[in-house]
This record gives sequence, C-alpha cells and structure tokens, in this order.
Amino acid sequence: MERDAMSVASGLPLTFADSDKSPLSIRAKALVFVDARSQRLRAQAEALAASSQPLLIVGATGTGKELLARYIHRQSERSGLFVAVSCAALSPQWGEAELFGHVGGAHVGAASSRAGWFGSANGGTLYLDEVADLPRALQGKLLAALETREVYRVGARQALPVDVRLVAASSIDLARAVAAGTFDERLYAYLCDGLLAFPALCERAGDILPLAEYFLGIHAQRLGLSIAGISAQAQALLKAHGWPGNTRELENVMHFALLLAGNEEIRPEHLQLPGQG
Ligand SMILES: Nc1ncnc2c1ncn2[C@@H]1O[C@H](COP(=O)(O)OP(=O)(O)O)[C@@H](O)[C@H]1O
Ligand SMILES: [Mg+2]
Repeated sequence: MERDAMSVASGLPLTFADSDKSPLSIRAKALVFVDARSQRLRAQAEALAASSQPLLIVGATGTGKELLARYIHRQSERSGLFVAVSCAALSPQWGEAELFGHVGGAHVGAASSRAGWFGSANGGTLYLDEVADLPRALQGKLLAALETREVYRVGARQALPVDVRLVAASSIDLARAVAAGTFDERLYAYLCDGLLAFPALCERAGDILPLAEYFLGIHAQRLGLSIAGISAQAQALLKAHGWPGNTRELENVMHFALLLAGNEEIRPEHLQLPGQG
C-alpha cells in the first residue's frame, strides 16, 4: 500500500503542487501506457525503481511526470512516504528549514524542531517538482545531502543520517539552466545519471485514445453517468489535436465533454479543442 505525503504536517508554510490538490491525480493509479514509446519509458522506470539512485524525469507540463514518480515509488517497495514538494512553492526565507528541517528556536516562530520534507521522506521517496526552481543556495546543500546521506537541520550542529530516494522533475532543459548559471552544474551531473525523458503526448499518439477512454471512464463513474463511448469523428479530432497541455489537457477536455454529453456518445461538438471552430 502506498502511503501518501498528504498526511505529513510540517507546520511550516508550504503550498502543495497543483496536482497534489487534485484528488484525481492521486487516485489515478492506473498508468495508461499503450504507445511503444511510453512502454519503453515504463520499462526503463521499472528497471531503475529498485535502486536508490536519484532520478531526473524531464518532460513538458502535464505529461505525467508525477504519476510516473509515484509509480516508481510503489515499484521500489520502499517502506517510507512519497513526499511531493513543489520547488517553486518553497519559501524564499524558510526554504532551507522547509526542506531540511530545523531545531527548536532556530528561527522566529519555530519553537519546536521539525523534520522538514527530507526527513519526512526518510525511508521513502522525495519528489522535487520543477527542480530548476530550487533556490541556488539550496542546490549545493541538496547535493551534499544526497552524497553524504546526511542532513543538517537549520540550527543543528550535528548531521542526521537520512535514507531518501530523490526523484527530481523538470519541464525546462536543465542544461540551459546550467549554461545560464542558474542551476548547479554538479547537481545536474549527479541527477543526469538516472535520466528519464517523458515524451510529449503528441509524440505518443498511440496513448491518446486509450487515455481519452480511461478519463471518460473514471469521470463517468465519479459522476454516476453511463459510458456511451466516443464517435468516430470525435476520435479523429482527438487524434489530430496537438495537445500542447499534454495528458492534463486531455483529461480536462474529456471531463468537459462528458459534462456536455451526459449519457450520450461523445461527438465533435462536445470537444472544446483550441483551433477548432
Ligand atoms: N499514463 C497516464 N495514465 C493515466 N493518467 C495519467 C497518465 N499520465 C498522466 N496522467 C494524469 O494526467 C494528469 C497530469 O499528470 P502529472 O503527473 O501531474 O503531470 P506532470 O507532473 O508532468 O505535470 C494527472 O491527473 C495524472 O494522473
Ligand atoms: Mg506536475
């Protein structure tokens, strides 16, 4: 059974990633991978799951990076939590304490000590979403923690041992961030050893219809509607669309189509696709 990070209370201000606010992304246990390219990705992920090596998942927003990371965590049989942290949401001021924890009295308003996200993921998996947004000062500290398997809580003199598997995700090209001087070159090299590239949905055309039917199914069940299927013309439109928002966009389109179609078959007029009249 996967235990989820949502129950971890850090007491520090931290906004969860958008996907974590959506109960669907958590319930979506099924990984719909039909296209040969996604099946290759899945095989790669399964091969890497058991080790504790850090991984970097690169892919556009909405491709399914977090879902894949959760899948890797389940496959790894690590007994700890899957803790998802949006790097962009770390506080500029308290980011280090949020990530690595702090000891009592280390800063104003922090009376008791806290484990931080790193400590909360002990024995489990720490998912760092949009890792390029990690403040520069924390990048070196993250690398040090990964290399030494120890963390210094803010205000602590002694390091604590941690057993954390890091899965970082990025929708931007980290090599360019390194070239621009905003991302630590050594951290990049460290993460690149376990690189997983998530193709955009338009490059995995074989996934489009199976995913559309999957989303139709889960939303119909949730809304208590029957599933009448997708007409041939609607299927053609779905296959021809470019899906700049990837799987997340497809899910939204199918959800909305179902609200319009009710118990009827999904037809072209139910699909709200940009660029379509
Ligand atoms: N292969 C898939 N099978 C089923 N649902 C998927 C798949 N890929 C993505 N999703 C769903 O699409 C949405 C976006 O996925 P997410 O992992 O949040 O993308 P990313 O982290 O790359 O932005 C989520 O609701 C997720 O559950
Ligand atoms: Mg995401």
